[in-house]
Amino acid sequence: MHQDLLTFIDWTSEEAKRLLDFALDLKAHPDKYGKTLAGKSVVAIFEKPSLRTRVSFDIGIHKLGGHMVYVDSRGSELKKREDPIDIGANVAQWADAIVARVFSHNTLEALANGAEIPVINALCDLYHPCQALADYISMREHLGGIKGKTLAYIGDGNNVTHSLLILGVLLGCHQIVVTPKGHEIDQSIRDKVTQLAMAEDVGVQFLNDIDELSSCDVIYTDTWLSMGDNTPLETIKASFMPYQVNRALMEKTKAQFAMHCQPAHRDLEITGEVMDSPQSLLMAQANNRLHAQNAILSYLLNENLQF
Ligand code: CP
Ligand code: NVA
Repeated sequence: MHQDLLTFIDWTSEEAKRLLDFALDLKAHPDKYGKTLAGKSVVAIFEKPSLRTRVSFDIGIHKLGGHMVYVDSRGSELKKREDPIDIGANVAQWADAIVARVFSHNTLEALANGAEIPVINALCDLYHPCQALADYISMREHLGGIKGKTLAYIGDGNNVTHSLLILGVLLGCHQIVVTPKGHEIDQSIRDKVTQLAMAEDVGVQFLNDIDELSSCDVIYTDTWLSMGDNTPLETIKASFMPYQVNRALMEKTKAQFAMHCQPAHRDLEITGEVMDSPQSLLMAQANNRLHAQNAILSYLLNENLQF
């Protein structure tokens, strides 16, 4: 039993598989779970903007019978008023869980240290675990399985890449990460993932040269500039353009599907043509955010829940 969901790195592959199965059951049988959060309140603290995460948590919590309070810390600059450890301790006096989107992973750890209630990472500089769970639910639904499939992530090595790698390895999905030089993933996370992949007997490959990517089942990309990165687009465009997910790349790799966590930038990291094609899983991924998060909330807030 885990107290929080900050990274998935401390989960076993068995636990990860059970959570994914549970999310599919919750999606298939919403009536069974309509009272899972009855009488419970979740506080959502956002230091960064959001469409999908904010809305899917709010509506998802409502569907489980609970209630969400949104705290916009961009407006009130919570961190300037008090330490995150004290914010966590205070919120825990009234609420049953905290969902937080923050700039620094340290803020999540401080919130979790202060709060005796579950804390869920709704994106930080290093991870986006709710997104990864929704993505593997989508892969499972469309490819019929995850184990033994290959996901190729192309573009900027970032928070989304890290979570896809961690959860993907736990679920038995081979990983290829292709990033321009200088935009590789975090080295300590790479070391951890490499170790985990060896233990789980899952392939993980890191490349810089896009021409070395020969085949995969799914191609995944994300924005070239994550929130908080103020590098001018023009500065990175030249180095990233060869990594664009477009029809030629889909054909060359024989990938069945294209994925993107969104927000997407049409005709930059992915072409509008691929986004709008039948190979696009973007709306399935968005749809599954709600089911992934509801599974996580149900798991963390119900000690007796069997799955
Ligand atoms: N994918 C995702 O987290 O979207 P938002 O930033 O809109 O929440
Ligand atoms: N890597 C992106 C993901 C947005 C959902 C960011 O952090 O901005």
